[in-house]
Amino acid sequence: MLLPTLHFVQHTYNWIPSQAMEEIGAFLGLAPAEVMDTATFYEEYWLKPKGKYLLQVCRSLACEICDSRKLTDHLRKKLNIEVGQTTDDDRFTLIELECLGSCGTAPAMLCNEQLYEDLTVEQLDELIDKLPADPHDFKDPFLAGVESHGH
Ligand code: FES
Repeated sequence: MLLPTLHFVQHTYNWIPSQAMEEIGAFLGLAPAEVMDTATFYEEYWLKPKGKYLLQVCRSLACEICDSRKLTDHLRKKLNIEVGQTTDDDRFTLIELECLGSCGTAPAMLCNEQLYEDLTVEQLDELIDKLPADPHDFKDPFLAGVESHGH
């Protein structure tokens, strides 16, 4: 019951505030430490708020071979954050994750729900610079100003 409840809270708030963990514990009759232990054990639970834009660079083999590390390093420098961190203005969170299922078009990155493939540092720059202030205005990569690369 604990995992689905954590999922539900995360889905609702986009992360799991500590107060919510206390309330989940009280609701399920668990000690707050038990809830915290479980929430910290699984990487998919967010215990801090995410930025408006979640940039998830694939770090698995095919992408690594295709220089995904360059994308991550570029984002670290450009945004002045490390992997796992959020910018001070809460605009971007950078993480690395395992295979996105686009190995044939590596390197791949997710910007919120949108998948980018064959991504170059130049395209990444263009994307970051053109993202609207409100992510709800960001629906289509071409509207966001990233050019198709021959597809
Ligand atoms: S290894 Fe990156 S998408 Fe599969």
